[in-house]
Amino acid sequence: MIELENITKRFADGHRAQTVLDGLSLRVEEDEFIAITGESGAGKTTLLSVLGTLLPADEGRYLIKGEEVKVNGDKNLAARICHLRNKEIGFVYQDHRLLPQFSVLQNILLPTLAVKSSSTAEEQKRALDLLDFMGILSLKDSPVTQLSGGEQTRVAICRALINQPSILLADEPTGQLDATNAHTIASLFRQVNDQMHTTIIMVTHSAEMAKVAHKTYKLVNGKLLEE
Ligand SMILES: Nc1ncnc2c1ncn2[C@@H]1O[C@H](COP(=O)(O)OP(=O)(O)OP(=O)(O)O)[C@@H](O)[C@H]1O
Ligand SMILES: [Mg+2]
Repeated sequence: MIELENITKRFADGHRAQTVLDGLSLRVEEDEFIAITGESGAGKTTLLSVLGTLLPADEGRYLIKGEEVKVNGDKNLAARICHLRNKEIGFVYQDHRLLPQFSVLQNILLPTLAVKSSSTAEEQKRALDLLDFMGILSLKDSPVTQLSGGEQTRVAICRALINQPSILLADEPTGQLDATNAHTIASLFRQVNDQMHTTIIMVTHSAEMAKVAHKTYKLVNGKLLEE
């Protein structure tokens, strides 16, 4: 499903260049559920951004379902990557990034508007089914600003799943939650992986969250070590 080969990512800020990913390789099979841990600043969000095609790698090869993701200024290729991102990848951001001016349902439907001006009846039904699956159907018309952290996390997960992606990337989805809520989210991820057959790559600091994954890697010195 996913292959990273010798990925390098550097950030330069004028005075210093920092190599965050340093010849990193990873292979993720279809239906696999991977957890990634690592110290703050180790490069976990950077890695997810490369995986999510939000950030280009400086060196190395990245393949999704055998197709190479490469940025080289070619407009057709850029459109192809955009299509691949919309179709195949769902992203749960570390800070959720829900839009405060919209309701829960509107936030979840936003990714369906990437290529057209309104969502279909089928997409609206899927949004309601996802809300039901996450146990927050009653909140569908609430402003997202009135939700608890755990509820916002669940909305962000619904939004990431609305286009039925084959890959779900989640950046510390339980970072701000108590143990009970973290446990609920952990079992929801397990169900998404089991029932929707979504390949999951999840960054987490929580040992409990990592336990529900099939494999755990630790990001150290720009490379992944299997735990
Ligand atoms: N856009 C950027 N420009 C310059 N440096 C960056 C940029 N993004 C990240 N970095 C640097 O890269 C390193 C890795 O950052 P990253 O956000 O990937 O860490 P992380 O493992 O997700 O940390 P945390 O657990 O705190 O979320 C940090 O030193 C950070 O300052
Ligand atoms: Mg991070």
